[in-house]
Amino acid sequence: MQKLLAWIDDRFPLTKVWEEHLAKYYAPKNFNFWYYFGSLALLMLVLQIVTGIFLTMHYKPDTGLAFASVEYIMRDVDWGCLIRYLHSVGASFFFIVVYLHMFRGLLYGSYRNPRELIWLIGMVIFVALMAEAFMGYLLPWGNMSYWGAQVIISLFDAIPLIGPTLSEWMRGDFVVSDATLNRFFAFHVIAVPLVLAALVFVHIVALHKVGSNNPDGIEIKKKKGPDGIPLDGIPFHPYYTVKDIVGVTVFLMIFSAVVFFSPELGGWFLEHDNFTPANILQTPSEIVPLWYFTPFYSILRANTLAFLGVEAKLWGVIFMGLSIVLFFLLPWLDRSPVKSIRYRGWMYKFALAVFVLAFFILGYLGTQPAAGPNLMIAQICTVLYFAFFFLMPWYTKYDKTKPVPERVT
Ligand code: HEM
Repeated sequence: MQKLLAWIDDRFPLTKVWEEHLAKYYAPKNFNFWYYFGSLALLMLVLQIVTGIFLTMHYKPDTGLAFASVEYIMRDVDWGCLIRYLHSVGASFFFIVVYLHMFRGLLYGSYRNPRELIWLIGMVIFVALMAEAFMGYLLPWGNMSYWGAQVIISLFDAIPLIGPTLSEWMRGDFVVSDATLNRFFAFHVIAVPLVLAALVFVHIVALHKVGSNNPDGIEIKKKKGPDGIPLDGIPFHPYYTVKDIVGVTVFLMIFSAVVFFSPELGGWFLEHDNFTPANILQTPSEIVPLWYFTPFYSILRANTLAFLGVEAKLWGVIFMGLSIVLFFLLPWLDRSPVKSIRYRGWMYKFALAVFVLAFFILGYLGTQPAAGPNLMIAQICTVLYFAFFFLMPWYTKYDKTKPVPERVT
């Protein structure tokens, strides 16, 4: 084995990569629960790709065949329903994991200097992931697939001058049709997954350049021993590989409970209206995206006023776009002298709690008709959502912070 390894090392930096990124990669010794979700996101990416490959073996990207091919997978293909449920439940769990991963960033200021680029790449991953999920949802060609795509693509109609041409170009037709299904299939199955895999690679390269943050928000590289190793660092392997295996095990128990016992989760993970084939002549009673899009969908529908010469629909699109763009700007909106919530004052804690609450309420309201009190509550929550970002430079600057210890606690 030694000889084989030496032979490989002469031709490929195997031992070097193993040591630099695992056995001699020193991570802060105080990682907690919130640090599980990066490796879990990686697990979900692999799971979606593997189950996706098997689905593709029987799926037919043709408007005349797509719906029936999915039913065929569910009823006749050996283990087909398991593969399909792993993929559909997997999509929702991927978003749960990524949302928790992002929330960790908000808790511990992981987006701050020197990790701005890790955060920005993460946000590009998030946008790519949304595109991936949106296009995948059209593929079963259910009625909600069809109308969801129709509604979201026609949002681009609201853009002045180029809007209608742009949306027609995206669909490849005047309505969502076979051309649309085929291109969404191409993007969903190969183009976006390739981009995602490349982005995740760059995300981790950037992380290993600066090193991980931690729940104390202290830079462990600033306190090194005589051997040049951070005093508060421990080798990623075996310490965190073992910790991550525990996380993966518990996660898979919860995940498989849903896959085996409630794969539709009462319509939250697979919508009831998607069990009927697409019908151009029949709109579902309420066109609603899956839960992971509904906070943004609520913001889209919240504005009912035309102002500054811009129609209400376009403002909705602008607000929805802005609600995602603002996340990119976080590293520069936060002026606090400390990173971790542990040493921040009440202002940031209060702002974060209100933001999370508003996000959940918007998420729920996005699944409900946008009228009456629902609409008003969605408008209030939209204002609170934006206030979190727009007021951040102010409340993070004046917040009364606690002294940060020299070493991790
Ligand atoms: C496919 C999706 C993603 C994968 C596979 C992924 C993977 C990872 C991994 C393995 C880590 C190191 C372990 C950890 O800190 O938990 C990490 C760290 C990080 N990720 Fe992601 N990530 C993804 C999406 C995102 C998104 C959407 C964001 C935010 C916009 C983000 C922001 C960060 C940040 C800031 C860190 C450093 C955290 C720290 O050191 O405290 N990631 N990511």
